[in-house]
Amino acid sequence: MRRKLVVGNWKMHGSLAANAALLQALASKPEQGAEMAVCVPFPYLQQAQAVLRNSAVAWGAQDVSEHAQGAYTGEVSAAMLGDFDCLYVVVGHSERRSLYGERDEQSAAKVAAALAGGLVPILCVGETLAEREAGSTEAVVSRQLDVVLRHCGVEALSKAVLAYEPVWAIGTGRTATPGQAQQVHAFLRHRVASADADVARGLRILYGGSVKAANAGELFAQPDIDGGLVGGASLVADEFLAIAGAA
Ligand code: PGA
Repeated sequence: MRRKLVVGNWKMHGSLAANAALLQALASKPEQGAEMAVCVPFPYLQQAQAVLRNSAVAWGAQDVSEHAQGAYTGEVSAAMLGDFDCLYVVVGHSERRSLYGERDEQSAAKVAAALAGGLVPILCVGETLAEREAGSTEAVVSRQLDVVLRHCGVEALSKAVLAYEPVWAIGTGRTATPGQAQQVHAFLRHRVASADADVARGLRILYGGSVKAANAGELFAQPDIDGGLVGGASLVADEFLAIAGAA
């Protein structure tokens, strides 16, 4: 049985003062059925670590370098994230891919670097609106997934999390219907199963894209949706806790 996982992706939001209240609200919630985590901006990792240590909520980052160390100005390595006891790191988010030119191969190298550093990568895949309308959703997510399978091997996915995030649903208020999401999740699981059925059965596939308390229950009830990667709604404690409660 896959345990549901709800991860907040704060993106570039927050301040020491605002985070304190949000993290405190999360930390004070007793452990519930679903696992919870927040992926915060790098400068707030220490704050997340201090407040969430001994709570039921894990923490992590939103990106990681594919390199172990060296002259890579502005980059942060997996070992550095490990220094702050990060459990998770988001890899290949569509904003990294579209705004910062991250290529499929680079995302795959980041998955490998995260695993080598003892982190659990949350690999994001998803199609744009134009790609969906052109009927190429499956081709796009396959391409993004297959690069990682080739680069890291299918066993890497036994220590990773996959997130399906249709780009047209991110921050737009336009959520994929539970049926649309389930279809792609089942497709992804099937694709992993063709490489290794056991890995596919254990793999948690999160849905992301305008998840809110109001739609989370229906999404998480789908057989292949194992939780959510939540952006905007993770910045409001009550909303995020309600989403986790729905899982
Ligand atoms: P959203 O973002 O929930 O604000 O749509 C999701 C994400 O980008 O991970």
